Amino acid sequence: MACSILVVYHSQGGNTRKMAEAVAAGAGEVEGVRVVLKEAFQATLADLVDCDGLVLGSPEYFGYMAGAVKDFFDRTYESARVERKVFKKPYAVFVSAGNDGRGALAAIERICIGYPLKKVCEAVIARGELTEQNLAQCRELGQTVAAGCDAGIY
Ligand SMILES: Cc1cc2nc3c(=O)[nH]c(=O)nc-3n(C[C@H](O)[C@H](O)[C@H](O)COP(=O)(O)O)c2cc1C
Repeated sequence: MACSILVVYHSQGGNTRKMAEAVAAGAGEVEGVRVVLKEAFQATLADLVDCDGLVLGSPEYFGYMAGAVKDFFDRTYESARVERKVFKKPYAVFVSAGNDGRGALAAIERICIGYPLKKVCEAVIARGELTEQNLAQCRELGQTVAAGCDAGIY
């Protein structure tokens, strides 16, 4: 069966959205992979349960993830954990930040341990103005998660 990659993100200014689109494009380059790209406020527990791999994107706001991404975790955590519906699913993260990003990343990774999800790639952190290199890293991130899921190596 074709594998499915869920990309969940929030973006106020557009940077994280561009990164999410690059991640989705990279994942979509892997033959047979289905990509679902969702804004965090629209993403549901069903999206999480249905996917084979997850890529989460957030801007760093006030040294933390965006509230919308936290809201996604808040809405899905208990059911996902108790029902073990996402047990050790592969995930990766991308963060857009003005000059740091570590606070958002650490907070996301900490919560993902609780689900538990399985981190399969180092995060991409873009600092300052988005560059073509940042977007290429995002495409590669999407490709890597999708190819790994498709090959069943995680
Ligand atoms: C309310 C707010 C708080 C922010 N706090 C941080 C921060 O703590 N650390 C940081 O590096 N950048 C911070 N930034 C900069 C954003 O992370 C950066 O502009 C990012 O690219 C925004 O992503 P977006 O365009 O997807 O919304 C902040 C921006 C806003 C609007």
